[in-house]
Order: sequence, then structure tokens, then C-alpha cells
Amino acid sequence: MSLALNINGRTVSVAADPDTPLLWVLRDELTMTGTKYGCGIAQCGACTVHLDGQPVRSCQTPVGSVGASKITTIEGLNGAHPLQEAWVKHDVPQCGYCQSGQLMSAAALLAAKPKPTDDDIDQAMSGNICRCGAYQRIRAAIKDASGQAA
Ligand code: FES
Ligand code: FES
Repeated sequence: MSLALNINGRTVSVAADPDTPLLWVLRDELTMTGTKYGCGIAQCGACTVHLDGQPVRSCQTPVGSVGASKITTIEGLNGAHPLQEAWVKHDVPQCGYCQSGQLMSAAALLAAKPKPTDDDIDQAMSGNICRCGAYQRIRAAIKDASGQAA
């Protein structure tokens, strides 16, 4: 069936079964491949996008449940988000695979708490797994982007 989705400020029409995970609609229907597939079972965070500003796991979000909610993907940060600048400065990525999900979780955190504490960061980022172990650089970049000493 045809569904209208609001993605990164634009309305797009997609043909998809309502049970299809949002992740596959983004990647396969819309060729927005910045959002990654890791585990498929809401355990790794690689597929994180925002729904009305809240981080969600798109691998476990049926596209039919999205409705008129505003979807923001890594492409919606435009490469110009303060976090993305801090990511470059701190040379955060190693293999890079987890990083768009990490950035989306971090962006939702800073939108809710512009000056997060270490505990806030640990809590917000705990669902994003990095097999390369870039956690220290991720935290440092979040601190830097929030204007706090890393
Ligand atoms: S792919 Fe969605 S949480 Fe791992
Ligand atoms: S940078 Fe390789 S999985 Fe995180």
C-alpha cells in the first residue's frame, strides 16, 4: 500500500506493507543508506533514527506505525550538526559502521539536554554498541559539542 512519510522535512510516498520495518523502507525503497543494519532485533543501535525527536530503532519500527510523525535520519543532520563537527575533530570513527546510529542517539540527547553530565551521556548512549570500542572518543566528542571540556 502507499504510505506518506515525513522524512527530513519532506513528504515522500512509499509503497510498502505496513509491517515492513522502517529501516528497510529507508534503505531499500528510498536508497537512504546512511541508516545501518546491525542486529535487526533492537540490540545494537546501528539503525537509530528520530521519530518526532525521540531516538527509535528503525529495525523494529513497522513503517505502518509511523503515521505523521517526523522522521529524521542521519542524512537530515546534513553533515553540519555540531556533533558531526566534533566527530571529525576527535577522529571518532574507526570502521564507522555504528556511527550514524551513535550520532542520532547523541543528537537526541543534546536536543533534550544541551549540557549533559557523564551519567546522562552513558545512559543515552548505552544502547549503541560499537564493536571497535570508540566509546571514549564518542563521549569526548559529545562533551565538546555541548561546549563542555572533554
Ligand atoms: S539493527 Fe536495529 S538495533 Fe541493531
Ligand atoms: S566504529 Fe566500528 S563499530 Fe563503531
